[in-house]
Amino acid sequence: MTAVASPRQHLFIPWAVQERETQLLDYERGEGVYFWDRQGRKYLDGLAQIFNCNLGHGNRRVIDAIRAQAEKACCVSPVLMTEDRSRLAAALLAKTPSELKKCYFVNSGSEADDQAFIMARMMTGRPKIFAKYRSYHGTLLGGLGVGGDPRRAAIEPGPPGTVRFFDPFCYRCDFGQKYPDCKLHCADALERQLQLENPSTVAAIVVEPVTGAAGGFPLPDGYFTRLRQLCDKYGILLIADEVITGFGRTGAWFGVQHENIVPDMMVMAKGLTSGYVPMGAVVVREHVAKHFESKMLPLGSTYTAHPLACAAALACLEEYEGRGLIPHAKKMGELLFQRLNRLAESHPIVGDVRGKGLLACLELVRDRKAKTPLVPANTDSPLPMQIRNRSWDEGLHLLARGSLLMLSPPLSIQPAEIDELVEKLDRILTWLEKTVGLVLRCGPHSGPNGNP
Ligand SMILES: Cc1ncc(COP(=O)(O)O)c(C=O)c1O
Repeated sequence: MTAVASPRQHLFIPWAVQERETQLLDYERGEGVYFWDRQGRKYLDGLAQIFNCNLGHGNRRVIDAIRAQAEKACCVSPVLMTEDRSRLAAALLAKTPSELKKCYFVNSGSEADDQAFIMARMMTGRPKIFAKYRSYHGTLLGGLGVGGDPRRAAIEPGPPGTVRFFDPFCYRCDFGQKYPDCKLHCADALERQLQLENPSTVAAIVVEPVTGAAGGFPLPDGYFTRLRQLCDKYGILLIADEVITGFGRTGAWFGVQHENIVPDMMVMAKGLTSGYVPMGAVVVREHVAKHFESKMLPLGSTYTAHPLACAAALACLEEYEGRGLIPHAKKMGELLFQRLNRLAESHPIVGDVRGKGLLACLELVRDRKAKTPLVPANTDSPLPMQIRNRSWDEGLHLLARGSLLMLSPPLSIQPAEIDELVEKLDRILTWLEKTVGLVLRCGPHSGPNGNP
């Protein structure tokens, strides 16, 4: 890996202690699940860049669609209609649960989350948003403050009306219970918390169907159904943050579909345009849409439903459908988890393997039995960055965050590429175990898909 020192001089690097970032990766081009740096080194993209490049790199249909649109029209006021704007809304609604009726397009997942929170407050006239402790809902004042991820430290105490609740996180159950014997005790606790907060002050509950970088765990079976029931009982809006889980990532078009849940609002981004042009969306049910028929929607931005993004999104939807990428992702996800579970057997540093579809998380521990985290919570240890650098040296792009390693390769990945990914990961884990001096007996890890 060649060190590139100069770009840092004028450029902030996101989510990083700036002076530590001495090893930069200079992206040059990509094709399928691979990309190359300027020195000609090849990387397997085990993260679809940042959970977004679901179609893989260099997709011809998307590139051509963007190019054709650029020739036709780039600058169109957000209040004007274009053929693609309405075509995209219709095409997107055809893929979401049929009760969702209207789309509002924005430029990122963060923007979509913030707008959804504002719409929920406006619609219900209630001030509070409930979010999990282990959650991430974007980098803007609203979402960063609502999400429980440690990155919220930047703007503590966050927006008034934020209430956090304990996660349904089976590997480290906050209630000391075991799934499924617990009968989802965490959902009972949430109901009690809603009652104590006074449910008539709660506008919305927001959850990710599979928590992304803030925990990497799926909601246990039945939990989403309980959430839907609680929201119905107390007139609270259910917001599904599908920014990572949307567009095939979990082996279904959307994460809510695994449990046939219809949220009141769905927030999406990333896979919507597969990262080719920034775009996000808030998609809502009829009763939310109706509220704004007779009341002002005071939201919007210059780049709402940008023509290049609409063209890219339409091409992406056609690709997902036309190439059968959603069922393919489900199949490849099963294979990936088989391989990861086998890999964990020979690596004591892996405490848990969990996720859904092609969204996988390894939780790393210093002691498998005691589940001692590799990196203590709320610290900014340089170890994750060192793991990432080592992974780049191995030609693998992944996310190392706290004690988590996250994988989310492009949906088009093939079995041989999964083998290659796991072989690289094997070498990275061996290096890491040596680095942290981990020479332990290898007891069983918690079991497949995070449901011990
Ligand atoms: C669940 C979730 N919500 C929101 C966001 C913010 O999206 P963006 O980075 O496009 O602003 C992210 C980003 O990773 C995310 O994972």
